[in-house]
Amino acid sequence: MGIYSKWVLPRLLEAAMHEPRIGRYRAPVLAQARGRILEIGFGTGANLPYYPAEVGRIDIVEPDAAIGERAAKHIAASGREVLTHRLSAERLPFAAGSFDTVVSTFTLCSIPDVSSALAEVRRVLRPDGRFLFLEHGLSPDPGIARWQRRLTPLQKMIGGGCHLDRPIAALLEASGLATDPATFEARYVPRLPRVVGWFSSGVARPQGSSSRSLL
Ligand SMILES: C[S@@+](CC[C@H](N)C(=O)[O-])C[C@H]1O[C@@H](n2cnc3c(N)ncnc32)[C@H](O)[C@@H]1O
Repeated sequence: MGIYSKWVLPRLLEAAMHEPRIGRYRAPVLAQARGRILEIGFGTGANLPYYPAEVGRIDIVEPDAAIGERAAKHIAASGREVLTHRLSAERLPFAAGSFDTVVSTFTLCSIPDVSSALAEVRRVLRPDGRFLFLEHGLSPDPGIARWQRRLTPLQKMIGGGCHLDRPIAALLEASGLATDPATFEARYVPRLPRVVGWFSSGVARPQGSSSRSLL
């Protein structure tokens, strides 16, 4: 692991992801977490302040040990019970139907095989469980989308594998996770460059039994 991924990226990630103006978008999503909870791509723990006070243990999946080190102080400060699984979301070691809530925020952009990860999310959710998501992704504006596609190779290099151009709603649908239209929101975030500022959020539920790959 190079100096950039071990030292620079975790600090950049921590500074960017704990920004209060992003927290505004986290709060209404995390407020819906209930029961047994799994968070994938935990990062440095920027969601911790937004979980309801009454939630119990939170299982987290985060493959990157250097990022995990930066998370430790946020976990300790939160006073929450967090069980860390140092692994990737494409293959989860949990039985089917283990969780009431799975959370992903700004993570679907970075998972190499996002379709496999979403299939795992659907598998580990209870049939009545809920997937809470807040993600940046492909803009509906063709001009912005063109720039997102051009810049993604560079962004992947400097942003820990982050893609700017993932079609979040379509990926969920293709993975058998049906977004409740009443909860779905997609918008540009003010004062963020539009190539990174198209945020989608909502609640999705497991549907049916098959999934197809979109990427
Ligand atoms: C942009 S950060 C977001 C962190 C956090 N979810 C947040 O909202 O602040 C993306 C995270 O996804 C993690 N990640 C990358 N590949 C992953 C994978 N295959 N499975 C699970 N997480 C992964 C990265 O290590 C990183 O912590």
